[in-house]
Amino acid sequence: MKPRGTQRDSRVRAEGAAARSTHVRMSSGTARSGSRRLLLHLLLLLGSCCHMLHGQEVAPYLQGVGQAQQVVLEGNRLVLTCPAGGSWPLHYRWTLNNSNITDWTLQNRLSIPSLKRNDAGLYQCMVRNRMGALIHRKTEVHVAFLGNFTGKEQRSTVSQGRAAVISLPPLASFPQPLITWYKDGHKIIPNNRIAVTLDNQLVVLATTASDAGGYHAEAMNEMTGENVTSPTVYLSISGGEERKERSSLCCSFPVRTPRASRVG
Ligand SMILES: *[C@@H]1O[C@H](CO)[C@@H](O)[C@H](O)[C@H]1NC(C)=O
Ligand SMILES: *[C@@H]1O[C@H](CO)[C@@H](O)[C@H](O)[C@H]1NC(C)=O
Ligand SMILES: *[C@@H]1O[C@H](CO)[C@@H](O)[C@H](O)[C@H]1NC(C)=O
Ligand SMILES: *[C@@H]1O[C@H](CO)[C@@H](O)[C@H](O)[C@H]1NC(C)=O
Repeated sequence: MKPRGTQRDSRVRAEGAAARSTHVRMSSGTARSGSRRLLLHLLLLLGSCCHMLHGQEVAPYLQGVGQAQQVVLEGNRLVLTCPAGGSWPLHYRWTLNNSNITDWTLQNRLSIPSLKRNDAGLYQCMVRNRMGALIHRKTEVHVAFLGNFTGKEQRSTVSQGRAAVISLPPLASFPQPLITWYKDGHKIIPNNRIAVTLDNQLVVLATTASDAGGYHAEAMNEMTGENVTSPTVYLSISGGEERKERSSLCCSFPVRTPRASRVG
């Protein structure tokens, strides 16, 4: 849109009604008559897009609020735009966690072709022109991914009658994965003796010889649709001489299954 000469005059007539209802700040003293003021209103409006109007430049202003949060799958493209108006030329710059990640550019879009998990954080754009600068609100970008379990196979022994607690090996994931435990390849259904804590530990109360075996967990990330398998913990049950302690086994684990808080 680059109005000039007669083209601009016809615009004044055509858009007069619209301009009259638009509130635009203007310096007083420049307008003498009603039609003159109308023209200035229009020039100000046009000035927000047309670099020819040197006298009436407009500082950057926000257009729209933008997204507060965004979740992008790892490897996908991230595109953020900086919706702002103001006199040309507008320059944009992006920060991530308050560090500059771009130089000043005429591009109002930030595009990262293949997002990595450590690209997550608070993105923010700044806009400036000769009249001023403004900072847009932050967009929190999450990267959905599922890492691998760390650690390797382990052996563990517990005395018969005592509780066995098998911890989930460390696993990086966003969002938190869903965990399913398996014993010897069979899915474990929690009951009043076997429970999974809120930390995804497997707790087997009052172990018997039949609890010996290989335990592993499957982690599933609902957002990426991926799943990974933990290294196996081989549990052995020893002896049987500690029956007295059975009643003193505590069961204050924050368990998911309410019934499981009793020793079976
Ligand atoms: C980042 O931007 C700020 C604000 O303009 C500036 O003061 C600083 O020098 C920049 N830092 C880098 C590393 O470019
Ligand atoms: C940005 O900050 C968040 C929250 O403190 C942090 O989790 C993330 O790793 C940071 N990102 C970068 C790229 O430093
Ligand atoms: C996880 O392990 C698999 C198989 O060992 C490998 O192909 C993949 O690259 C690993 N992923 C990460 C993020 O390390
Ligand atoms: C995830 O688990 C399901 C069911 O356990 C299985 O059918 C599927 O093949 C697994 N997907 C991957 C990517 O491992």
